[in-house]
Amino acid sequence: MIQRLNSGRRILTYPAVHPCEAIAPETLLISLIALTHSICSYKSKCIASNKRNALEAIRQIGVIRVFLEEIQAGLPGLPDSTVLSFSELHLAFQKVQYLLEDCTRDDARLWMLMNSERVANQFRVLIRTMATALDVLPLDGIHVAVEVKEQVELVMRQARRVRFQVDPEDKRVVEAVKKVLIGFEKRIDPDRSELERVLDHVGIRRWSRCEMEVRFLESEIGFENLREVGLLSSLKGLLCYCRCVMFGSVDGLPGPRPEPSNRSEVVSCLNLEDFRCPISLEIMTDPVTIRTGHSYDRSSIMKWFRAGKPICPKTGEKMKSMEVVPNLALKRLIQQYCNENGIPFGDSGRRNRDIGRSTVAGSSAAEGAMKMVAEFLCASVGTGSNKAAYEIRLLSKTSIFNRSCLVEAGVVPHLLKLLASADSEAQENAVAGLLNLSKHSKGKAVIVENGGVDLVVDVLKEGLKVEACQHAAGTLFYLASIEEYRILIGENPRAIPALRELIKNGSDRGKKNALVAIFGLLTHPANHTRVLAAGVVPLLFEILTSLDSEVLVTDSLAILATLAEKPEGAVAISRCKALDSIVGILNSSTSRAAKEFCVSLLLALCANGGHNVVALLVKSPSLMACLYSQLSEGTSRASKRASSLIKVLHEFHETRSSGPVTRVLPQERFVHVR
Ligand SMILES: *[C@@H]1O[C@H](CO)[C@@H](O)[C@H](O)[C@H]1NC(C)=O
Ligand SMILES: *[C@@H]1O[C@H](CO)[C@@H](O)[C@H](O)[C@H]1NC(C)=O
Ligand SMILES: *[C@@H]1O[C@H](CO)[C@@H](O)[C@H](O)[C@H]1NC(C)=O
Ligand SMILES: *[C@@H]1O[C@H](CO)[C@@H](O)[C@H](O)[C@H]1NC(C)=O
Ligand SMILES: *[C@@H]1O[C@H](CO)[C@@H](O)[C@H](O)[C@H]1NC(C)=O
Ligand SMILES: *[C@@H]1O[C@H](CO)[C@@H](O)[C@H](O)[C@H]1NC(C)=O
Repeated sequence: MIQRLNSGRRILTYPAVHPCEAIAPETLLISLIALTHSICSYKSKCIASNKRNALEAIRQIGVIRVFLEEIQAGLPGLPDSTVLSFSELHLAFQKVQYLLEDCTRDDARLWMLMNSERVANQFRVLIRTMATALDVLPLDGIHVAVEVKEQVELVMRQARRVRFQVDPEDKRVVEAVKKVLIGFEKRIDPDRSELERVLDHVGIRRWSRCEMEVRFLESEIGFENLREVGLLSSLKGLLCYCRCVMFGSVDGLPGPRPEPSNRSEVVSCLNLEDFRCPISLEIMTDPVTIRTGHSYDRSSIMKWFRAGKPICPKTGEKMKSMEVVPNLALKRLIQQYCNENGIPFGDSGRRNRDIGRSTVAGSSAAEGAMKMVAEFLCASVGTGSNKAAYEIRLLSKTSIFNRSCLVEAGVVPHLLKLLASADSEAQENAVAGLLNLSKHSKGKAVIVENGGVDLVVDVLKEGLKVEACQHAAGTLFYLASIEEYRILIGENPRAIPALRELIKNGSDRGKKNALVAIFGLLTHPANHTRVLAAGVVPLLFEILTSLDSEVLVTDSLAILATLAEKPEGAVAISRCKALDSIVGILNSSTSRAAKEFCVSLLLALCANGGHNVVALLVKSPSLMACLYSQLSEGTSRASKRASSLIKVLHEFHETRSSGPVTRVLPQERFVHVR
C-alpha cells in the first residue's frame, strides 16, 4: 500500500494519495507502522539543512510508532471510527516521508538550504496535521496501556508547541550565499574562505559532489518553473564557479549525465538548437546565410531586412549587401532530423524549454559568475591545465550564452595550442571543447583565424585517441557551414583523405561525423572532385551493403545523392554497379529519409549517368512498385521525384518501342527539382 509513486516526483512536492475509504482499520494500521519505520530510517542519513527540524519530526513520529505498535499488539477488533484518523495520519506521513527524502537528497543540498524557510514551514504544517489527526482518534475505543496514551497526548501537545524555526546557522549561510550572488552581479570575486564555509555547511567537499548539484539545478531549470529560474540559474552559476575554481582536481564523474530529452540518434552530433532560426527561434524551414556568415530562416531575415534593419541580427554588423544564399547543407540536415524524429518539416514543433538554446544567462548573477569562470579558465588553460580544458569542455556543452562567454574570454587559441599536446586526455578535451565552440559563429571565426583548420586536420589524421579524431571531424563539419571555411578545408590536401580514413576505420560515431563533414564540404561544388578523387564513393557503398546502422546508411545516401547531381559524380557512382543495392534499400528501408535520398539519387543518376542507368533500372522488378508507393507514402519531395522518375522510365519504354534511341534526358534536368 505504500507503493511509491515517486519516480519523476519534483522536489518539494508531496503527491500523497488518500487510502481508499473501504479499507479495514487493521490494514491501514499495518501500512502506517511500515511508514513510520521508513520515516525513522532517515535519522541516520545526512541532512544538510533543517537538520534539527527533521530530527524533531522523526522523533515525534517515533513516539507515535510505539503507540501504533501497542495498538497492533493489543486486542483485535479496531472500531471503524479509527479509519478517519488513520487515513489523515497516513496522508501526513506520506508527505513527511517525501519531505525527508528531499532533505536527504545528495544532489540538492544547496537548493534545500536556500528553501530552508519553506521546508521548516512544511514540517510545522505536517506535524500539526498529524496532531489534528490524532485528536480525532477515538482513544476510548482502543485498548492500549495508559502510559502509552499519555505519551501520545504529550506528543500532540508538543506538536502544537514546537515552532520548527529555521536553523540560525542555515539562515546565516543563506545570507552568505545571497551576498556572493550579489557580488557576481557586480563581478566581484567572492571571498574564498566564505565560499569554503558555504560548501562545508552543505557538505560539498569534492568536485563530483559539486557537479551533482550543478546537474540537479540544471534539471530543475529544465522545468517550466519561471518564477524560480532566476535563482536556480544564479545558484548554478555559483556552483559552477566553485567547481572550476575551488576544486583542483576532477574526482570522477557522478555517473552519466541524464539526457535532457530523447534526442535524435540521427544527427546525434548535432543539436536541435543549431537548427533554430536566431530570430524566430523556430526550426528553420528555408535556412539562408547572410554576408556575416550567420544563417537565418529566409522569411525571418527578409522581414527583418524589410523592416529597414540592414544589420546582422546576431553580430549587429552593418550589412553592405542584403544578399542571402540558401544553406542547402543545413536544410538537408534539418529535413533529415525532422523526418527521423517524426517532426513535420516546416512545422515549428513544440516550443519546450531548452536551456541549451538560450542566448542569455538565467540571471545577472549567473551571467557574472559565468564570465568570471570563463576568465579564470582562460588563464588556467593558458598554462596547459588539462582540468581547465575539461571544464571548458563541460561548459561548452551547455548553452549559446556560455559558449559565447568562453569565446569572448579568449579560450580558443589556448585550446588550439593544446591540440598538439602529447597528453591524450588534454588533446581530447581540447578538441571536444573546440567542437562545441565551433557551433558559435565567432568561435568558428577565431578557430580559423588562429590557423585552426590545419591543427584540427592534424588531430583528425593523427589524434591520440579515436574520440579526438571523431571530435575533429565534427569540428570540421561545423566549420564547413561557412562558405569561406569550406574552401579552406577543401584546400588542405589532407582533410578529405583523413575524413575518408575515418569513414573506413572509425567507430560508428566517427563514421557519422566524417560523413556529415563531407556532406558539408560538398556544398562547395569544387570539392566534389576531391571527394571523388579520395575514393569515398566505394566506401559509401560498403556502408550501404554492410549491416551498418540505418543512420549511416542515410548519411551515405545523402552524400551519394549530392554527388550524383554532377556528371562526374554520377559516372563514379555508376561505376560501382550498385544500382541494385539502392533499389533494395528503397524497397526495404524503414527510414523515410533514406527512401527519399534513394529516389533523388536514382533520378540524378538517370539524368547525369546516361542511358545505361535508365536501361538497367527499367529491368528492376521491384522498382516501379516502390516508386508508386513513394507517391503516396513518401515525403512530398520524395513523391515529386518518384513521379519524375516514373515518367523517365515510361519515356524510355516509349522511345525504345518507337524508333532510334536518343538521349531522353537533357543533362542536369532534374538537378534542382525541389
Ligand atoms: C528514448 O528512445 C528509446 C528508443 O527509441 C526508448 O527505448 C527510450 O525509452 C526513450 N527514452 C525516453 C526517456 O523517452
Ligand atoms: C550556462 O547558460 C545557461 C543559460 O544561458 C545558464 O542557465 C547557466 O547557468 C550557464 N552556466 C552554466 C555553468 O551552465
Ligand atoms: C557538445 O555539446 C552537446 C550538447 O550541446 C553534447 O551533447 C556533446 O556531447 C558535446 N560534444 C562534445 C564532444 O563534448
Ligand atoms: C584502424 O583502427 C585501428 C583501431 O581502431 C587501428 O589499430 C588501425 O591502425 C587503424 N588502421 C588504419 C589503416 O588506420
Ligand atoms: C575545394 O574547393 C575550393 C574552393 O573552390 C578549391 O580551392 C579546392 O581546390 C577544392 N578542392 C578540390 C579541387 O577538390
Ligand atoms: C522487397 O521487400 C520485400 C519485403 O520487404 C521482399 O519480400 C522483396 O523480396 C524485396 N524485393 C527486392 C527486389 O528486394
